[in-house]
Amino acid sequence: EDLSSFNTMGLPSRATVLARYGDAAQLPELSELAQRYGKVFVLGGGSNVILEPHLSGLVVKVQAQGVRLLSESDEELVVEAQGGENWHGFVSQCVDQGWHGLENLALIPGTVGAAPVQNIGAYGVELDQRFHSLLAWNLRQGRLVEMGAADCGFAYRDSVFKRAPAGTWLIVALRLKLSRRWLPVLDYPALAGHASFKQSPAPTARQVFEAVCDIRRSKLPDPAVLGNAGSFFKNPIVDALAYECIRSAHPDVVAYAQGNGAYKLAAGWLIDRAGWKGRRLGPAGVHDRQALVLVNHGGATAQDIRRLADAVREDVQRRFGVTLEQEPVSVA
Ligand code: EPU
Repeated sequence: EDLSSFNTMGLPSRATVLARYGDAAQLPELSELAQRYGKVFVLGGGSNVILEPHLSGLVVKVQAQGVRLLSESDEELVVEAQGGENWHGFVSQCVDQGWHGLENLALIPGTVGAAPVQNIGAYGVELDQRFHSLLAWNLRQGRLVEMGAADCGFAYRDSVFKRAPAGTWLIVALRLKLSRRWLPVLDYPALAGHASFKQSPAPTARQVFEAVCDIRRSKLPDPAVLGNAGSFFKNPIVDALAYECIRSAHPDVVAYAQGNGAYKLAAGWLIDRAGWKGRRLGPAGVHDRQALVLVNHGGATAQDIRRLADAVREDVQRRFGVTLEQEPVSVA
């Protein structure tokens, strides 16, 4: 099965076997298949993966759809979405319904089921802040588990699902705590200062949603036009000593104090400052408007992306003494 249109990087990739998951009744059968093929990879929207040309084993494409209101009390709601729902479509639906809390996470590519895996976050909101619980199928053990936040081990772009061996978990449904009361989160400077808010100091949920879409469109390439997997590296967290070292040499380094003495550095700034913005290595390139994003200019393979990523990582290490960690999952 050809997976080139199932990954936003647009890498050529074939799977030995592809199973489409659309309904909970299929779960036991999927576990049987998983056992038969041994190696399994669960694929959502393919927006955070680097696929090798040949994937051995079973690939499960999650396509289950459905959104429902699970409970409501006073102004608080619990909304449940099936794993195969498109994330942005779901966020947009919530804004339409007046279910508030996800506006800052607009336009993130991928599926609902993939959102908790890497604990998606943008413009001052991380998924775990809105998390209620989730239903996950353990493919190895063949059982459905309900998990709370503590079970999921959320951290910056991380969770137990990302750390577990590939093919352990299939996220069936995600439940989020939303609210009818509108409380904008405008901590992120570029969002708070968005031109559309100049006339209206108290923006509506729809306006914040639109502003986030606008900011993303201005910096991040549309995967339909230019293949990419979003941020290719995590923003590295360094201790105070390492931060002071970098800052003394580069007073304009972009960093966020973590409250525990550590600092999160803007990897995009490091890569940009190292001179990589807009550069190409064969068909793979560093995006010209956001250096944290690697792009496929056409015809790139996983190997081309890896070659560029290695070159960027080595250069950043040499110049700043900082190790960049890859954010998307590599699948062979
Ligand atoms: N910067 C540069 N040059 C660049 C890119 C960034 O100097 O080429 C500087 C910016 O000027 C800014 C700072 O670096 O001062 C941070 O940049 P930006 O606000 O674009 O955010 P980011 O840290 O690069 C993170 C997330 C994004 C998320 C944005 C907004 C990670 C790995 N990435 O990027 O998430 O949209 O913040 O909250 O945490 C993703 O994960 O795929 C993703 C796009």
